[in-house]
This record gives sequence, C-alpha cells and structure tokens, in this order.
Amino acid sequence: MALTNKETSSQLLDAQTYIWNHTFNFVSSMSLKCVVQLEIPDLIHKHGKPMTLSQIINGLPIDKAKAHHVHRLMRILVHSGFFTKVNIFADEENEGYWLTPSSRLLLTDEPFSVRPLLLAKLNPFLMEPWHYVSKWFKNNHHKTAFDMTYRRTRWDTNDGGQNSSTFDHLFNEAMAGDARLEARVLIKDLKHVFEGLESIVDVGGGKGALAKAIADAFPKLKCTVLDLPHVVCGLEGAANLSYVGANMFEFIPHANAILMKEQWILHCWSDEECIKILKKCKEAIPNKEKGGKVIIIEMVLPSDPKRDHKAFETQLLFDMEDMILVPGRERTEKEWAKLFLAADFTSYNIFPILGLRSVIEVCP
Ligand SMILES: C[S@@+](CC[C@H](N)C(=O)[O-])C[C@H]1O[C@@H](n2cnc3c(N)ncnc32)[C@H](O)[C@@H]1O
Repeated sequence: MALTNKETSSQLLDAQTYIWNHTFNFVSSMSLKCVVQLEIPDLIHKHGKPMTLSQIINGLPIDKAKAHHVHRLMRILVHSGFFTKVNIFADEENEGYWLTPSSRLLLTDEPFSVRPLLLAKLNPFLMEPWHYVSKWFKNNHHKTAFDMTYRRTRWDTNDGGQNSSTFDHLFNEAMAGDARLEARVLIKDLKHVFEGLESIVDVGGGKGALAKAIADAFPKLKCTVLDLPHVVCGLEGAANLSYVGANMFEFIPHANAILMKEQWILHCWSDEECIKILKKCKEAIPNKEKGGKVIIIEMVLPSDPKRDHKAFETQLLFDMEDMILVPGRERTEKEWAKLFLAADFTSYNIFPILGLRSVIEVCP
C-alpha cells in the first residue's frame, strides 16, 4: 500500500514541513554568515544599546535599494536566537534589536570569537566537497570527499596562513579563538594537570595560541609548539615558548607531557594513524612514575545519546565533517580506550569540563 494511503493528511503535511526544514537548514547557516560578514553584531555592540531597524540600515555598507530586505534577514536571525527584539522608544520605531550570548561570541574583537570559525567552515573551499559525498561513497580512489574534490589532502592544501588574504590565515584565526577559550577553562579548572610539569609539547599546535596562554599562566613550564614547517616558519617564541617545524608522524621532541588539542588533531585521523601518533608521543615522554602523560582535548561521544539530544546532534555534525574533509572520526570512550591500549598506554582519565569536549589525560 502506498505510504500516502497510510498517513493522515496532517501527518503528511508535518512530514513535508520536516523535510523542508532539513532541506533549508543551509539557509540558517548562510543567513548567519551574511549577518557576520555585514558585521551587524559589531554594529549593535558599538552602538551600546538596542538599535532600531533604520539605525541598523543606516549603519550598513549596503546598496540602499536592498535596504527594505534587511528586516527579513533580522527576522530569521531573531527566530534562530542570534538577536532579540526589545521595546525601546526611538522616533517612529519602538522596537530595537539587541545581542544574545551567541551573537556576542561572533563579535570581531571578542578574544574567544567564533566568527573566524564560522567564516572558515562556511567558506566555499570547505563546502565544495559536501556536494560530492554520495559520489565519494561510490568511488574507491580517495580517502575523503575533500581529497576527491581537490586531488590533495586537507593538510597538503594548508599554505600555513602567512598571507592574511588566504583561507588558511582565516583557519588559523579560527583555531586561535577556540584555543583561547579552551585555555581559559583549562587554566582555571584543570590547573592540577599542568602543575609539576617542567616541559610540554603542543603537537599540531598551529600558531601556538593555546601554548602561549599556557606559557603565560605557567612561567616555569617550557612550552614547545610542533607543527608542519611551513605553518610555524618565522614565528617568534618567548622566554618559555618555542616552535619546532616537523612531521608529528616522524618526530616529537622529548617533554614531560604532550598536548594534543582537538581542533583538531586525533579526530582528524584514522585509528591506524592515531595509534602511530600516540606511539610517537609515548616515545617522547618519561614513564608514568616520572609523571609522563599525554593530554588530549577531544569529544567523547556519549554512551547515552538520548540524555542530551542537542549536544549529541552537534557531535554528529562534527563527526560527518571528520569523514568528509579529513579521514577522521569522533569516538566513544570505548573507542578511545581501544586506541590508548593499542598504543601501549596503561590508563586514562576523562575530565568532561569543556562543553562538548573533554580533557583526556593518558598515562604510559
Ligand atoms: C586543525 S589544526 C589544530 C591546531 C591547534 N591544535 C588548535 O586546536 O588550535 C590541525 C593542525 O595539525 C597540523 N598538522 C597536520 N598534519 C601534521 C603533521 N603531520 N605534523 C605536524 N602537524 C600537523 C596542521 O598544520 C594544523 O595546524
């Protein structure tokens, strides 16, 4: 019997709406991208109080013929919770737009800004491979849809971001904003993990935003950032901060501890590659009795996904990205434990203190 005969009209219409919502999910992301590119959160923030629609329009560098569309953009962003409408009394208009915690995290000058991450993830360069996922499933030549699209891996396309107009400059800024936010939580809530250490290497540490924050917070700790040579070339260290250009599969300098921050090291790689990286880390640190450890910041997929449906959905979105752009994945605690065991580590502790991510302390 055809499906349409089984369902009531209302069920069919609900199903249609459900599909429309999923089909148009990109509209939500793209509207947000537009608002961020037009710097509307910055405009309202600089104004210091709620802005009427006319004030927003007057402050935007847009073609005046498009001005009458701005309320539609603001309406969908109010709906998705990035702006709120409040009552004010100003000239003809008595409603103003104000920021929410989420739009405040999209401000240009906010040290923890997620703006560069949003612009990087929604850049056509990273979005293009998503059009070819089903083609990639059918083809056996490429590890990822990204590799299939560009005939190179994500890291082979990384130019180090030295030039401010390149995608990788934006990508580095995206990593740095996230690193600063994580550093704040780590230094405040997980101080004991770093206390007593004399040296630490941040493997795949990019431009060193996290290592810099740790070096500042623990002046006696010698911090080294290891990343690919063209990423760290020309970067200047400080008294307790230095840079090493190397391939982490081949060389990791000796230290009391190795740090690997999620955005994103191990979840970018397959199980086999993670085991190789973890084994290299193990060679670089002293034994457990001498305090050797690997500190990993990663997501741990929940054993009961129903407990926090929204958070689990975000983790699944990341997991899909790990599959499409890089040959990686998000992992459950059991899957992490399997990797640690395979790389000859003996114990681990998970501290779920970073929202969707956790700090995992792994001992040899
Ligand atoms: C997503 S970024 C993470 C940066 C930093 N950990 C953070 O969270 O801000 C991944 C980093 O791994 C580096 N990377 C990739 N392959 C590498 C390799 N074989 N050896 C060393 N670094 C590598 C990339 O250059 C990039 O900086």
